[in-house]
Amino acid sequence: MAEDLQIARGTKTEQYAALLPQIRALMEGESDPTANLANIAAALKEQFGWLWVGFYLVKAGELVVGPFQGPVACTRIRKGKGVCGTSWAEERTLIVPDVDAFPGHIACSGLSRSEIVVPIHSGAQIVGVLDVDSIELNAFDREDQQWLEDVVKIIPGVNA
Ligand code: SME
Repeated sequence: MAEDLQIARGTKTEQYAALLPQIRALMEGESDPTANLANIAAALKEQFGWLWVGFYLVKAGELVVGPFQGPVACTRIRKGKGVCGTSWAEERTLIVPDVDAFPGHIACSGLSRSEIVVPIHSGAQIVGVLDVDSIELNAFDREDQQWLEDVVKIIPGVNA
């Protein structure tokens, strides 16, 4: 497909509903993980304008920062540490309405106020997480969780 994104207006539901087929189209025929993760991060950032959108990938027993859009970020996170490491350890999506109230939150940017982290499953394994940060408190809800869990399932090879 053409490498341009149609930015949808309207409700959050309408925005996600317009974005997902475009993400699917971007992944079509491309198997390179870096290329696909980079385009997903860019598409989400462009549509929603969040502070930070990106991936941490499991490498040698740690999360290592992968393709992202936003301010520079910490490079490595251990299992069970921060929101990302906790999502990985608990193998579930974490919605953090106020990062200052999350014990052990790792502040990569002082501007981040709320966060959602979605684990990426590949078979029985967690291979990484999708991390999204907002400058607004309480920016993410169950609807974001649902859609972003659908987004990570689009990544070729991860829902095998
Ligand atoms: N806040 C995350 C660290 C990653 S940055 O937000 C990009 C955490 O607590 O795991």
